[in-house]
Amino acid sequence: EDDSSTGSDSSGGGSKKITLGFSQVGSESGWRSANTDSVKSAAKEAGYTLKFSDAQQKQENQISAIRSYIAQKVDVIAFSPVVVTGWDAVLKEAKAAKIPVVLTDRSVETSDESLYVTLVGSDFTDEGRRAAKILEKVLETAGHKGKVKIAQLEGTTGAAPAIERAKGFKEVMDAEHKDDWEIVVTQTGDFTRAGGKQVMAAFLQSNPDINVLYAHNDDMAIGAIQSIEAAGKKPGKDILIVSVDGVKDGFVAMSEGKINAIVECNPLLGPQLMEVVQTVHDGGTVERWIKTKESDFTQDQAKDALPTRKY
Ligand code: AHR
Repeated sequence: EDDSSTGSDSSGGGSKKITLGFSQVGSESGWRSANTDSVKSAAKEAGYTLKFSDAQQKQENQISAIRSYIAQKVDVIAFSPVVVTGWDAVLKEAKAAKIPVVLTDRSVETSDESLYVTLVGSDFTDEGRRAAKILEKVLETAGHKGKVKIAQLEGTTGAAPAIERAKGFKEVMDAEHKDDWEIVVTQTGDFTRAGGKQVMAAFLQSNPDINVLYAHNDDMAIGAIQSIEAAGKKPGKDILIVSVDGVKDGFVAMSEGKINAIVECNPLLGPQLMEVVQTVHDGGTVERWIKTKESDFTQDQAKDALPTRKY
């Protein structure tokens, strides 16, 4: 576990400096690295003492990090839950210790809504819907005829973005494309390049007729591109690709014509999180879900947008 503390030495205006305990999911993707950088730099900017730990995509690591923040009596705990279920016990411990909990990026399922204050993060179901809508455009631009045989690379099993990106996509597919679109294979690639590469290789073996890939993040799409090329096919042509995130390497692949469209998921949550932490610490009220604003991108926009991508 990478446990580090950062923070400025000067105390902000004489008031006691806020100590924030943050438990990160892991370092599985480019999105995650950008998110970690955003949280660290925003905490520094706000003058908070940040206790940061990386759970390496393991729920038990997050639970022990949260327990250690409770033991250290931090002022506020924030975390990005690797999966949606199984948090009630540790969240009750935080509540008993009167430490407010803020969710960032990913949501949880709980029977007791009072166990966390708010979620600062994206609407993943809507990202799934947007992925389906942008696929319609991609198919049209490519002049695609005939059945759309989709391979889906899912995110980490049980994670909110994996569940909801699949759900939103399927919703549009079932409502508008029941006769012509079909998800022929779907499996998790754990949001990593290695996972995307390995699972796509297996997909191509079992279903050589796949003509679309919907990847729940850019990293898995980039891994999959390697397997598509290794199989002698052209990513972005023989297999049309839509992914989610919008990290720099995703934009590079899009500007090379290998990814057809990307639905943005914004990782730069740090500044909004710090504002919420301050409000919550001061006893103020915040909305239950503070949604992130994001856009969609197609190949014609990739080259222009690339130089301005910050992560
Ligand atoms: O929770 C957000 C998701 O987690 C990102 O889309 C993915 O890249 C990351 O691993």
